[in-house]
Amino acid sequence: MTATQYKPDEYKAFQTFLESACGIVLGENKHYLVSSRLSKLMRKEGIETLSELISKVQGATGVNTLKIKVIEAMTTNETLWFRDGFPFEVLSETIFTDFKVKKKNQVKILSAACSSGQEPYSISIIADEFIKKNFGANMQFQIVGVDIDQTILAGAREAKYEDMALARGLSEERKKRYFTQVDKFWQVNMDIRSRVTFREQNLMQSYASLGKFDVVFCRNVLIYFSADLKKDILNRIAAMLNPGGYLFLGASESIVQYSDRFNMVRTPKGVVYQLKD
Ligand SMILES: C[S@@+](CC[C@H](N)C(=O)[O-])C[C@H]1O[C@@H](n2cnc3c(N)ncnc32)[C@H](O)[C@@H]1O
Repeated sequence: MTATQYKPDEYKAFQTFLESACGIVLGENKHYLVSSRLSKLMRKEGIETLSELISKVQGATGVNTLKIKVIEAMTTNETLWFRDGFPFEVLSETIFTDFKVKKKNQVKILSAACSSGQEPYSISIIADEFIKKNFGANMQFQIVGVDIDQTILAGAREAKYEDMALARGLSEERKKRYFTQVDKFWQVNMDIRSRVTFREQNLMQSYASLGKFDVVFCRNVLIYFSADLKKDILNRIAAMLNPGGYLFLGASESIVQYSDRFNMVRTPKGVVYQLKD
């Protein structure tokens, strides 16, 4: 089988479409990736060439379901429970503890680009453990998960995971305590789910309707974007944080070069960014 090689013009047009639709910058040599992500969809839709796909996606008016499907096929939804460990420890040991000392009783947390829900539900489990450990701390946690991918969000709302997805990052103890078996799935228990709501949100668009947050997780998504879009998103996250609010990025991501609105806070467990005064 020969490797897919698109015509330079059609590949360029697809790169431009994808970046303008969802911010993802596609490298020059990702022909194979495009073909492997789109071939099933194109076959189903009876579309033979990338040029034909682009003109269908760009030509349609109103809600363009094909455009949505292309974006969903091109985004990477890789995630796991308590990813990288330390952000969740810092959240509990440093940030929640600080909020408790300050008698802050309403805590709002955003999980931006939350994929299938492991990140916001991990945060909710941490909140639950914190409340149990700090009996008497009158604190309520509200967690909002947003993503561009409507299909993945529908799954996140259902909160049902197969054994394989569950095994990635979740301890047996937490599984027993926070999940219930439903047929061949494990569903997150209602007390954990009830703190979490999900909304569709393209990070390129206005965050005005989301409100203000005390902590934002924006992990493992900025890596796909251009430097200009990273700057824009980080500055708009700064604007949606309450004074002294915190930002977590992915292990391979940094704000250096992109925003001067945050101080880097080194905790015994790892780095978190805090909004400057
Ligand atoms: C690799 S996952 C990261 C999931 C989670 N934050 C974590 O660190 O495990 C990246 C997510 O970003 C979402 N995404 C990509 N572009 C986006 C955009 N422009 N707006 C909102 N979400 C986007 C994808 O749909 C995908 O679910």
